Amino acid sequence: MKKVVLTGIKPTGTPHIGNYLGAIRPALELAKDYDARYFIADYHALNTIKDPKILKELVYELAATWLAFGLNPKNVLFYKQSDIPEIFELATYISAFTSKGLMNRAHAYKAAVAVNQENDKDDDHNINMGLYTYPILMAADILMFDTNLVPVGKDQKQHIEIAADIARAVNYVYKKDVLIVPEPLISEETSVIIGLDGRKMSKSYNNVISPFLPTKKLRKLVMKIKTNSQEIEEVKDPNTCNVFALYKLFTTQEEQDALAQKYLTGGMGWGEAKQFLFEKLEETFSKYREEYNLIINDKAEIDNILKDGALKAREISSKVMQRLRQTSGF
Ligand code: TRP
Repeated sequence: MKKVVLTGIKPTGTPHIGNYLGAIRPALELAKDYDARYFIADYHALNTIKDPKILKELVYELAATWLAFGLNPKNVLFYKQSDIPEIFELATYISAFTSKGLMNRAHAYKAAVAVNQENDKDDDHNINMGLYTYPILMAADILMFDTNLVPVGKDQKQHIEIAADIARAVNYVYKKDVLIVPEPLISEETSVIIGLDGRKMSKSYNNVISPFLPTKKLRKLVMKIKTNSQEIEEVKDPNTCNVFALYKLFTTQEEQDALAQKYLTGGMGWGEAKQFLFEKLEETFSKYREEYNLIINDKAEIDNILKDGALKAREISSKVMQRLRQTSGF
C-alpha cells in the first residue's frame, strides 16, 4: 500500500507564487508516488476571516488554484475541511490527550502574546481560542486521514511535531497503534520566497505576486519590486537583489548566469532587469492563468468536485472515528 501524504492550505488570501512554489507544486509532485490527500483548511481561516462572502470567494480561488496547477481529483483526494464533521469530533477527542502546556508552547500563539506584550496590551488581547487551539485542529486534520507524511513550510514543523506527540499520547494510553504518527516533510530549497519588498512573501505583509494576474497588472506589480537606487551604468550585485532572487526560481542555471553577467557588467537599469523577470513569469504562468479563468468561472463544477471529494473523504474519516470510538468505549 502506498504511504499517505496530506497537506492543507488556509484560504486566508488570494493564492500567490509562494504558495505555488512552496506548497502546491511540491505537493503535486508527491501525488505521483503517494496516496495524496489535499484539502482546503477553511475552518482555520475562520479565526481571521469572518465575512461570509469573502470566505466563500477565497475558498473558490484556492480550489481553482489547485485545479489550475494540475490537481486531478481522480488521483488526489481533494476536499474542504468544513465538509468533514469527523475532523471536529476528532479535535474534541484528542483534546483529552493534549496537555495545555503543549498549546502554551506553540509558536503562533507565543508570537501573538509577544506582540501584545510589546504593545503594552494584556497577554490575551485579540487572541481567540481558535488561535490557541489551532494545533489541535491541525492535528485532527492530519490524524483523521492516517497520514504518514505532511509536506509543509518550516514555520509549520512544530505543528506536525505536536500532531505526532498527540498521536503517541493516544497510542500510549490504549497500548496500541490507534493513530498513525505523522512526520513532517520540509523542502529546504524553496523554504523562503521573497516578496515585493524583500521580506518573505506573505499575504500578511501585503507583498505577494498572484500568478493569475492579467498580463498588464502582473507587469505593473513586477515593476514595483524593491531595489536599491543604483543608476543604469553602475555595476550591480545579483546576490543581494530581490528581482534576481525571484528570477532564479523560474530559470535554468544558464539563464541565471546570463542575467548575472548583465548585473556585473553594468549598463542595465532596474526596469530592464524587472522586464526579464516579468517575461519569465508571463511565460511560466500564462497557460495556468487560462486554465484558472475557466475554472473560476464555473463555480458549480468546483462545488461538484469538492462535494465528491468530501464523500470519498468521509468514507475514510468515519472509519477512523469509529475505530477511536470503539477503542475508548463510546
Ligand atoms: N497551518 C497550515 C498553514 O498555515 C495549514 C494547515 C491546516 C495544514 N491544517 C493542516 C497543513 C494540516 C498541513 C496539514 O499553512
